[in-house]
Amino acid sequence: MDASQNLGPVILLGPPGAGKGTQAKRISEQYGIPQISTGDILRDNVQRGTELGVQAKAIMGRGELVPDVLVCDMVACRLRDADCARGFILDGFPRTATQAGWLDAFFESELFDNSSAGKRLPIVIRIDVDYNQLVKRLTGRRTCLANGHIYNVYFQPPRVEGICDVDGSPLIIRNDDREEVIRKRLLEYDLQTKPVAEYYEHKGRLASVNGDLDIGEVTGQIFWVVEHRDGNCL
Ligand code: AP5
Repeated sequence: MDASQNLGPVILLGPPGAGKGTQAKRISEQYGIPQISTGDILRDNVQRGTELGVQAKAIMGRGELVPDVLVCDMVACRLRDADCARGFILDGFPRTATQAGWLDAFFESELFDNSSAGKRLPIVIRIDVDYNQLVKRLTGRRTCLANGHIYNVYFQPPRVEGICDVDGSPLIIRNDDREEVIRKRLLEYDLQTKPVAEYYEHKGRLASVNGDLDIGEVTGQIFWVVEHRDGNCL
């Protein structure tokens, strides 16, 4: 698979702290397709004080999910951008059964309609990680303020404490990475997002990787899945 091919959609599923953002950045670099993180887009809206951000701020602070209609509209807007034409990585979407149904309908109705390479079925990858490991990863996470580079004080520390290796900007702790909110987010995942994985499993589209391994080993498993996908043009 080289960077000029039409990869189509890659969907990363997994609980908070599974490594979706970390792995999405690596897939993006390897295959030259954009990472679309609904959490990052929402946080950007919160920071800029947009109407969407005002609606989402308190919900995210409690560790609950933002209403489907708001998130689906936001994703539709982003997927119509030109840089998504060859493919994209969805990080944190879909997260409810409603979002998954909406996405299938969106793929059917408008996505890649004009692509000479034909429509591509999504590659759906779930990253599985042990519960206690997730809590440790989230409490130890630090994020670069300028560009979202991800670190961890336990597993992937920056060279200089509190400073991003890549761009020198300060590292921050996300507002929802407090332990009581983390537990609520993990509960929401069990209730609302696990059924999404089952939805793709029933369609025979789900691949799982062992996310308990080192970051590089998880990346290796994901690249393998991408490279060995079936030739599934619609
Ligand atoms: P979002 O930003 O999507 O957060 P999340 O799903 O909770 O996932 P995280 O970003 O916390 O974790 P991750 O899996 O990306 O892990 P990471 O790579 O950072 O959503 C936030 C909120 O926005 C939601 O609660 C909700 O309110 C709202 N929202 C977003 N999308 C929505 C939607 N579709 N519908 C409704 N609401 C929505 O890694 C975590 C840490 O672990 C890092 O420190 C990293 O360095 C470390 N790490 C990663 N991999 C490894 C490894 N293999 N070994 C050791 N450490 C590792």
